[in-house]
Amino acid sequence: MPLYTMAEILKDAQENSYGVGFYNAVNLEMIRAYIRAAEDEKSPVIIGTAEVLLNYSDFDWITPALLSAARQAAVPVAVHLDHAYSFDTIMRALRAGFGSVMFDGSSLDYEENIRISKEIAKIAHPMGAGLECELGKVGGLDEGEGVKGENVYTDPEHAKDFVTRTGADFLAISIGTTHGVYAETPKLDFSRLSEIRRDVCIPLVLHGGSGLSDLDFKTCIKRGICKVNVYTDVITGAINRIRERGEELGYTDLLQAAENAMYDITVEKIRTFGSGGRA
Ligand code: 13P
Repeated sequence: MPLYTMAEILKDAQENSYGVGFYNAVNLEMIRAYIRAAEDEKSPVIIGTAEVLLNYSDFDWITPALLSAARQAAVPVAVHLDHAYSFDTIMRALRAGFGSVMFDGSSLDYEENIRISKEIAKIAHPMGAGLECELGKVGGLDEGEGVKGENVYTDPEHAKDFVTRTGADFLAISIGTTHGVYAETPKLDFSRLSEIRRDVCIPLVLHGGSGLSDLDFKTCIKRGICKVNVYTDVITGAINRIRERGEELGYTDLLQAAENAMYDITVEKIRTFGSGGRA
């Protein structure tokens, strides 16, 4: 298949009210797990990496792997850069052929987030790429020295102004999800999501997709979420499988067992998000 862009994949998801998963990868096993799952379920999928994950997989190694796997897949696959903060990383991804990038200005004040997002949109758009921005803040990401970011709920009154002024193509919103493992069951603010959806027509993105119930996902998708980012659940599945089989299997078989665990989780998410059979 030709390489798809996130915009193409999410356009169909938005028109037909289903969600598409986004999964970060740091190695071939992860990439293969996501694409095998998408192919078996006949689902589109979005794969990629994030700035912080480049500490685990060099940009120049993981990028050709992501792009080549996406082009060889039997289903639509888009390659996206998640949570980038630096102009350099964003430019590298755009030049390498990522169809979309996320500029994460969620720690900046409102006007500064708009100013930088707008500059990046001006560069990405002529290159044929889309821009995801975050308004409010989905907490749980490392902010250095062991500090995790706190949630700041998206203000629905800002959403339209933010999208119009930045030219963002996809909007990540904060409605009660957090990155990583939840200390207690999250309670999502669905009415806030509906209010944002009322004012903004670009695809909405839910970060911190691990640990939510099927009902949470289904309600979010019904109310306008098109893309769901999932990472912690995938790696937890791999770690658990390695712990279960670690005594019995050698290294290469363990890698395969971990891949199969990540495949199982991706299949489960595809079925919950309703993207199966949409490829
Ligand atoms: P989780 O690790 O909580 O699934 O969040 C993933 C994410 O939002 C990546 O951007």
